[in-house]
This record gives sequence, C-alpha cells and structure tokens, in this order.
Amino acid sequence: MSTPEARCAQLAALATIAVATIATVSAGAETPRLGHHADTAAIAAWAREVWPDGRGLPPGGGTAAAGAPLFADQCASCHGPDGIGGTADELAGGQMPLTSDTPDKNVGTYWPYATTLFDFIRRAMPMTAPGSLRDDEVYALSAYLLWRNDIIGEHDEMNAHTLPAVVMPNRNGFIRVWP
Ligand code: HEC
Repeated sequence: MSTPEARCAQLAALATIAVATIATVSAGAETPRLGHHADTAAIAAWAREVWPDGRGLPPGGGTAAAGAPLFADQCASCHGPDGIGGTADELAGGQMPLTSDTPDKNVGTYWPYATTLFDFIRRAMPMTAPGSLRDDEVYALSAYLLWRNDIIGEHDEMNAHTLPAVVMPNRNGFIRVWP
C-alpha cells in the first residue's frame, strides 16, 4: 500500500507524461494526414444555398421542354424514364396521398418548396458527377420535374422569380418549429 504522499507523486508523474504526449501530438509530429485544409475558395464553392424564398438563385432559366432531353441523358438511368420506375428515388407519379397508410412521398407530393429542387440538383446530381450541370440546365431539370408532377406547364420558364413563386402541393404540410 502506498502512502497518500507517494500516491500523489505517482499521479503528478502521470499528469506530466500526459501533458508531454499532448504537446507532441499538437506540435504535428504525428497526424493521420487525412483530407486537406478547407480554404476560402473551397468553402465558397460549397456555400451556394438556395433558400425557400429564392435567395441564392442565380440568373438564367429553363423549361420542362428543355429539361426532358437532359433528364433522358443524365438522370433516367437511375430514376427511370420520366422519373418513375428506376433504381433510385421516384421523382414523379405519386398516387397514394400523404394521409394514407402507404403514402407516396416524392419531390412532387412531399417537398414544400420548389427551390429545393434547384439546390439539390445543382449540389448533388447527377450522382456520378455532382456540380457538373450549368445553371440553365438545373432550371430546366427543375422545371421538368415540376411538370412531370403536374405542378407547372411544359413551357413555363423557371427562373429566379418564377421558381420561388411555385406553390407546391404540400406547401403547408409542415409545422414550423423555430421562430
Ligand atoms: C447514378 C445514379 C443517379 C443518377 C444518374 C441521378 N441520380 Fe438523382 N438520386 C440518386 C440517388 C441514389 C438518390 C437518393 C440520394 C439521397 O437521398 O441522398 C437521388 C436523389 C435525387 C433527388 C431527391 C429525391 C428525393 O425524393 O429526395 C432528386 C431531385 C434527383 N436525384 C434528381 C436527379 C436529376 C435531375 C438527375 C440528372 C441530372 C439525377 N438525379 C441523376 C441517383 C442518381
């Protein structure tokens, strides 16, 4: 059995070792060497949010008619022709109401804001090459999906003014939990 004094001395020695170890690691002698520093340009490339009220939408525009061939080329392989029947999420064709036991939740039936389509497609699709679409193409694909969900007409142009003005079917289906 060690005396209380000896025990204190042991703890002090351990603390000294721990401090020395932390100092070595924080000096950068050994790091996992994963990733790289996110500089201002890298952060700016990601900080391109589009908000429900349309803030952040760029200039440009597009219609469903222009979006249809783009969808066939770049999206249908995963989402199916016309956004139905592929291996990835269905993007149109919801039949069962949200109040049913087996609701069809898709971008047309469930999403409250049309502007989310622009944000999501520009940021994340096509899944194999996110960020590769031009803004006009993203507007056209957003218009195409809205048209396939019977929300707008085939020749309605979607742009920074018209896209936020689209009233989605489930616009009022969410409860606001922050002020
Ligand atoms: C290689 C397969 C692939 C391709 C190609 C692809 N997607 Fe997707 N997409 C996915 C997958 C998988 C998801 C689900 C991802 C998730 O929820 O994070 C998804 C999700 C989506 C969603 C959100 C669906 C929801 O209900 O949450 C949209 C909108 C979308 N894709 C649009 C597009 C468009 C437009 C294109 C063409 C430019 C495209 N996708 C091309 C695989 C793909």
